[in-house]
Amino acid sequence: MDRKTALLASDASGIARAAELLRQGGLVALPTETVYGLGGDATNGEAVAGIFAAKGRPSFNPLIVHLPDAPEAGRYAVLSPEAEALAERFWPGPLTLVLPMRADTELSPLVSAGLPNVALRVPALRLARQLLRETGRPVAAPSANRSGRVSPTRAAHVMDGLSGRIDAVLDGGPADVGVESTILGLWDVPRLLRPGGLPAEEIEDALGRPLAGPPDAGAPAAPGMLASHYAPGASVRLGATGIEAGEVLLGFGDAPGAAMNLSPGGDLREAAANLFGYLRDLDGMAPVIAVSPIPETGLGRAINDRLRRAAAPR
Ligand code: TXA
Ligand code: MG
Repeated sequence: MDRKTALLASDASGIARAAELLRQGGLVALPTETVYGLGGDATNGEAVAGIFAAKGRPSFNPLIVHLPDAPEAGRYAVLSPEAEALAERFWPGPLTLVLPMRADTELSPLVSAGLPNVALRVPALRLARQLLRETGRPVAAPSANRSGRVSPTRAAHVMDGLSGRIDAVLDGGPADVGVESTILGLWDVPRLLRPGGLPAEEIEDALGRPLAGPPDAGAPAAPGMLASHYAPGASVRLGATGIEAGEVLLGFGDAPGAAMNLSPGGDLREAAANLFGYLRDLDGMAPVIAVSPIPETGLGRAINDRLRRAAAPR
């Protein structure tokens, strides 16, 4: 695997080149409002297989298909009236819907890893939708990091992990949400499969009922379910109110002695946007990254979910 990875600017020629590479079956990392994705044409089995190879991802883990506009979803999945209402309300945005796949789609079966459901998302970032529209194909894209590592929120993070393994990175600047999309299963009752950039409370308000959890039996329904994930090189200790020997403190709110602070004012939106970049910045400064307690509400649920996986035994 030794390709030259181009860094493309977010102008008309950069977008055109990225779209051309995708149509040719190439692998292009693209910015979204959540994190950068590693994109490939979802109808091209070789491109999709290339995504798994570049990430070093176990091939049983299915991928999210990215679309430029909500009405495109009906080409790939069956949407109940409730699914239609959620798509209307929250797309474009940091929400992925896992829906029954249509029998007649042209998607590569590798995308859903053999499952009867497909994960769809319309990203909010205008540049991403422009690229998707210009590509004219559904684009499968997991986060653009090596499997198990911290997700990228800048083009430089993508280069760190994937340079030489993919064709290009479209540079859209820093991601402003900073944690991955919320994943909602809609094949029976609405299920929260992964907390993310859209607070679950907002979905519950829209539905007028609480969300169920992931189906408990058998294989992980969403990868987020793998215990160790999003792992920096350093180990991670949660709920820290001070530091011990060998630690640096990643603060939140009032946190004296913090080497970096996710949000000195205690703003969860700001903390989510800073999370992955700060974990990367602190990695290598000490054997252990200690992290201040973060409230378990709204975006705090996504932040704590990622931190628990970063702290899990590997
Ligand atoms: O914000 C995001 O969601 C980013 C950006 C690039 O869009 N993408 C992302 O992809 O986080 P990834 O592959 O790192 O995480 C996608 C998750 C995986 O845990 C996968 O198991 C789950 O979505 N997933 C995908 N298809 C599924 C399906 N058919 N059924 C259940 N879970 C699925
Ligand atoms: Mg990921």
